[in-house]
Amino acid sequence: MRGILLAGGTGRRLRPITTSVSKHLLPVYDKPMIFYPLSTLVSLGIREILLVTTPVDRPLFQRLLGDGSQWGLRLEYVAQPRPEGIAQALVLGEDFLGGMSSALVLGDNLFHGMDFAAWARSGVELTGGHIFAYPVDQPSDYGVVEFSSDGRVRSLQEKPARPRSRYAVPGLYFYDTEVAKIARGMRPSARGELEITAVNEYYLRERTLRVTVMDRGSVWLDTGTVADMARATEYVRVVDERHGIKIGCIEETAWRAGFIDDTQLRLLAQPLLGSGYGEYLLRLLD
Ligand code: DAU
Repeated sequence: MRGILLAGGTGRRLRPITTSVSKHLLPVYDKPMIFYPLSTLVSLGIREILLVTTPVDRPLFQRLLGDGSQWGLRLEYVAQPRPEGIAQALVLGEDFLGGMSSALVLGDNLFHGMDFAAWARSGVELTGGHIFAYPVDQPSDYGVVEFSSDGRVRSLQEKPARPRSRYAVPGLYFYDTEVAKIARGMRPSARGELEITAVNEYYLRERTLRVTVMDRGSVWLDTGTVADMARATEYVRVVDERHGIKIGCIEETAWRAGFIDDTQLRLLAQPLLGSGYGEYLLRLLD
């Protein structure tokens, strides 16, 4: 499986902060936002990742993340000239995917507490699409899943004015090898975007969409607005200060996934000493 990480878009809801910088490079507590979804992919055991950015932000991402080899990854970059939809990433990534199945994650989504590694290890054969659902207080801000009384998926809607359930679709999607072709065949929505919900609806129509309700103990936050970012920062800070655990620490995640060894982790810690971050990495080795 290969990963696609979306870090394009305009950051409209975070202006003026995002006038000169991509929101994905902004801090969520002690690290850039992009580290969180990147860590999610790595915790799934995914090493080959395509980063979708705007053309102008791309050099900044390259400066931060490089080619990923320091974390045992292979990172590639592709520019999305205009924010023409999340599903467009699947078209832009078609060559990169090279006929393999894919995990798509949104660059402003933060997941914690889902045992993705166990899920990945379970080696479920992926045919069709697999998405998640999580109850939220404002479902109209998201893709929404409607379930029938026997738990089957009845409908999917993108940002409905009158949501039919409280279950939002988080920005982590798994697809089989057909997805690029499906996305390529889609038409833009009324707001001019290739909608990821339309891709999921396609799989739903084909009866090959699985929807897993996320565990109650897991956390999903998105960081699209100033209030969301403040909330995510607070969450990460509390877990860090109270338990001494860093969420979204890419070096630690790569080390736990076995992508890098102790020597490499020690090496990565050196330039990060002084902020507490490098010290944290060294403590992991004790
Ligand atoms: O957060 C989950 C939600 O994300 C889903 O429930 C919705 O179904 C889905 O449409 C999406 O809604 P948002 O309104 O949050 O999407 P947004 O435009 O904020 O973009 C999400 C991420 O994808 C963000 O990191 C920017 C990136 N993006 C977005 C678009 C439209 C791109 O890289 N390129 C794009 O063209």
